[in-house]
Amino acid sequence: MKPRLIVSRQIPPDVGTRIRAEFDCPYPDGLDMDADTVIRMLTEHRADALMLTSHLKFPKAVIDRIPDHVRIAATCSVGTDHIDIPAAKARGLPMTNTPDVLTECTADLAFMLLLNVFRRGAEYDQIMRRGWREHYGLGEMMGRRAWGKTLGLIGYGRIGQAMAARARGFGMKILYHSPRRAAPELEQGATYFADFHQMLPHCDALSLHAPGGTLTAGIMNAHTFGLLPKGAVFVNASRGSLVDEEALLDALRSGHLYGAGLDVFHHEPDYDTRLAEMPNVFLCPHMGSATVETRNAMGFRALDNIAAVLAGRPPLDPIWR
Ligand code: DGY
Repeated sequence: MKPRLIVSRQIPPDVGTRIRAEFDCPYPDGLDMDADTVIRMLTEHRADALMLTSHLKFPKAVIDRIPDHVRIAATCSVGTDHIDIPAAKARGLPMTNTPDVLTECTADLAFMLLLNVFRRGAEYDQIMRRGWREHYGLGEMMGRRAWGKTLGLIGYGRIGQAMAARARGFGMKILYHSPRRAAPELEQGATYFADFHQMLPHCDALSLHAPGGTLTAGIMNAHTFGLLPKGAVFVNASRGSLVDEEALLDALRSGHLYGAGLDVFHHEPDYDTRLAEMPNVFLCPHMGSATVETRNAMGFRALDNIAAVLAGRPPLDPIWR
């Protein structure tokens, strides 16, 4: 008999193919479910495992309703801020995430945001779509050079380091803040700031790569945007909760920021559309990991974690111990 699985969101076809082969799952390609539906499906199907994504809020109130026959819940995300980890631990519910496999694609997207803002990519695209009919003078519609600028990173884990690797290819100087200083082989010449407030005044561009959650909530606010030099570029492909969006709007409107590239928002998907009214803001709908290769790898990694636990082995990527 195959183990029984519930998948709480639509997933890539190749992942669905593996689920069909290895699991008994009523919706092997995933189905977009709210928390009540997840609990009902887990119960009705007498599921052994749940595969979820960061769209599903997983607070104590939900975790406590997970039926006892569920032996693992695997989130298809590196982020875990949608999960009440102490509640999962108290409940003894093994939970896993999908680190490593999305590092490069998320850094690619963050760098796409950065370049787009420096070089006004979104505005150029709009000009072409409206029908480009007149030459611009040499002094019109100029962007700014990314090459050689100073990039500040808040968060220097896997994705922050991958962002730094891309920036080095553009001759950028790297500054970073993280809770602990990285080893020299990971720093590769980047300058560490124990206090990110001291780093901000030196950043031509700032990119966030720290996790969501209470420790980082609102770290970019009126005060910290004000510490950036006038004309700085701001990029966020981590979590919207790190940013006070009113303060971001003010910093953009006043011209303090040159522009912003954003993949994540305080409210998703119903983000603050005032951001879209500004031409110097480049927006993506939380797509950091959205390549076929990476989304497949995330799905497979979640399934590997589930298979391990159901076979009585330790999970590869436990989010609590
Ligand atoms: C992640 O993996 O955390 C991405 O943000 C998708 O949720």
